[in-house]
Amino acid sequence: MDPNAVLQDLERGAELGGGEERIRRQHEAGKLTARERIELLFDPNTFEEVDKLVTHRCLDFGMADQKIPGDGVVAGHGLVDGRQVFAFAQDFTVFGGSLSETNAAKIVKVMDLAMRLGSPIVGLNDSGGARIQEGVVSLGGYADIFLRNTLASGVVPQISAIMGPCAGGAVYSPAITDFTVMVKNTSYMFVTGPDVIKTVTHEDVTKEQLGGAMTHNATSGVAHFAAEDDRECIALVRELLSFLPSNNIDDAPRLAPADDPDRAVEELERIVPTSPNQPYDILDVIHAVADDGYFLEVHQHYARNIVVGFARIDGRSVGIVANQPAVLAGTLDIDASVKGARFVRFCDAFNIPLVTFEDVPGFLPGTVQEYGGIIRHGAKLLYAFAEATVPKVTVITRKAYGGAYCVMASKHIRTDFNYAWPTAELAVMGPEGAVNILYKRELDAAADAIAARAQKVSEFREKFANPYIAASRGFIDEVIHPRDTRRKLIAALRNLENKRDRNPPKKHGNIPL
Ligand code: HXC
Repeated sequence: MDPNAVLQDLERGAELGGGEERIRRQHEAGKLTARERIELLFDPNTFEEVDKLVTHRCLDFGMADQKIPGDGVVAGHGLVDGRQVFAFAQDFTVFGGSLSETNAAKIVKVMDLAMRLGSPIVGLNDSGGARIQEGVVSLGGYADIFLRNTLASGVVPQISAIMGPCAGGAVYSPAITDFTVMVKNTSYMFVTGPDVIKTVTHEDVTKEQLGGAMTHNATSGVAHFAAEDDRECIALVRELLSFLPSNNIDDAPRLAPADDPDRAVEELERIVPTSPNQPYDILDVIHAVADDGYFLEVHQHYARNIVVGFARIDGRSVGIVANQPAVLAGTLDIDASVKGARFVRFCDAFNIPLVTFEDVPGFLPGTVQEYGGIIRHGAKLLYAFAEATVPKVTVITRKAYGGAYCVMASKHIRTDFNYAWPTAELAVMGPEGAVNILYKRELDAAADAIAARAQKVSEFREKFANPYIAASRGFIDEVIHPRDTRRKLIAALRNLENKRDRNPPKKHGNIPL
């Protein structure tokens, strides 16, 4: 037989996957095939496939006669905006994209290569889980992947796109990776599905309610992004990569800034309301300061009292962490602390400078928070900021109260430049709370308690609710006009370009998990 014809035949087999009928069903379900997804992920004609002719080795359950070249996963590398990226895409048309021994070995091969070559790794997940016919061999394949995910963490960026089912222990690979994008209506993640739940807890829940894209974006926080469809999902992955370095010793790509570095941001002069309890949207501040007003928000739907995400300032990729006064008054609760901490640690691992906007009245009070362990979880954010050695710049726009003052990248935990707007209030607590404690007896005895209280609040505010005591101590480097915020951030980030800071040598710290 003509050797070229043999190769062509095998390649055609790999490209057809589970066959035309199953491809039709995949499309009918609103999903693209693994190969179509790979095409979208990479710059045109740059994808190089590996192990296209690998087949499974299972002889049981009639599997010996059902061998499809590639065995249900497309793996390889290519360019994304000109930079090398490794990827694998599970092919649902081949045994439901289930993970076999050989299919796992293909994934492991590209993960090992990605780590050796210092390139990001993207997983496009669409799988019925462990290949049932292979039993424990397939479970071993998962464990091999989990080990790589763990070893690669902090070495190369890892992104998971969930574009179909992802159930059972299979969810733990995406869970270890840095970012998870889910597609609305066609993807779901859960450890145990609705049927098992019904048997064990008698709860009735649909797949979508249990583990759909919005459940994990808004409620559990397992996923960081929700996309409308496969195309948007992959576009998001490409965009996210544009903010990230290829590995932990590279810097993120710097774009030639189109936005004027000297641009004054006049609208910031009017953004903080006169009443200290009135909310405003911190996103307006972020958009106003960022190059071209652009901000890629991460975890947009989860713990909205803190905002995290990527922007460019003077063409540099920065990680932004900001209290959001428009949600829960910007207080820090358990979810916000965990969300913020994970983002800070990602940026620190990958040399992305951190810019913090602070307006925080404190940690959220209440039994729900205390019983839930706000002490332990709040400590994560504190630990993450304190441990971070990347360039750190903080701008206090309004409140910086209590423990939250220390946590939110204060000078004391090695922040390089700390700025405050004239509207900043730095105190152990808000004036009302402070007056209640300090003058309780005096106010109880006052003839006109309301007037006396108002007087004390006003005195307290005058004395403490401003940035000048902190500035006189050097805890704030400079009180700046809001309009100068962008200019100041750019100058600070330029100054910090060659920052090299270290933590004491250790195997690893013991972050309060
Ligand atoms: C082998 C599988 C498979 C699996 C699906 N298929 N899952 N083959 N191993 N795990 C095959 C089906 O037989 C079918 O083959 C094809 O894939 C498509 O599946 P359908 O059921 O027709 O598709 P759909 O109706 O869309 O349902 C998809 C599904 C369902 C919800 C994923 O297939 C399903 O429940 N699969 C089993 C899921 C599961 O329990 N997996 C094990 C989880 S435990 P044909 O030939 O008809 O096209 C696990 C442990 C990991 O993964 C542990 C790591 C530590």
